[in-house]
Amino acid sequence: MDILTIAIAKGRLGKKGLELFKDTEYEIIMEEDSRKLVYNNANKKINFIFVKPCDVVTYVEKGVADLGIVGKDTILEDNKDIYEVLDLGFGKCRFVVAGFEDQNLVKKNEVLTIATNYPSYVESVFKDRGQLVEIIKLGGAVELAPLMGLSEVIVDIVETGNTLRDNGLVVLEELDTISARLIVNKASYRFKYSEIKKIEKVLGGV
Ligand code: PRP
Ligand code: MG
Repeated sequence: MDILTIAIAKGRLGKKGLELFKDTEYEIIMEEDSRKLVYNNANKKINFIFVKPCDVVTYVEKGVADLGIVGKDTILEDNKDIYEVLDLGFGKCRFVVAGFEDQNLVKKNEVLTIATNYPSYVESVFKDRGQLVEIIKLGGAVELAPLMGLSEVIVDIVETGNTLRDNGLVVLEELDTISARLIVNKASYRFKYSEIKKIEKVLGGV
């Protein structure tokens, strides 16, 4: 039987993803406070590798990992050649355009400035509607950009809405619904089909 490799995003999402395997034949026991990045399951059914969220899709597309658990936001931004097979139902949030309440999102023959962590996604959304944009790529805390006059609006994920509210910003438009997804390498899905289906069943049945 083929052993599978699954790439998991380090952080909140990965922790939740790992919980889905608890008490199954795929469970791994992690060493506390360890910085180890690869874990082999005792039953030799699966290897877990822990990578940055934005790298999960890359590992799966290249076939180094057969499977991955990653947010839909990352999938939309990366636009890579992989299968998305399961909505895991956790990590729910929304992709939104946010800014000050009176901000207009349609500016004819004028540039709308947008700060975001997701430049490719933003470009495709606004290209489709013919709005000229200047995209300012930030690494985080994008809510600061309108406050400091760096951009007119932001595109970001919103969960509770607390960060927007605490910074005096509002949702101007909802773009997409986000949650954690199981993704699969295309060749793996053909050649390790039955093993992957078993994992889908374990994760889908939770
Ligand atoms: C994320 C996201 C929003 C916030 C949304 O940021 O970028 O800013 O959480 O959550 P909320 O609606 O529940 O407030 P994160 O805290 O991960 O920090 P970062 O953007 O600086 O990386
Ligand atoms: Mg943030």
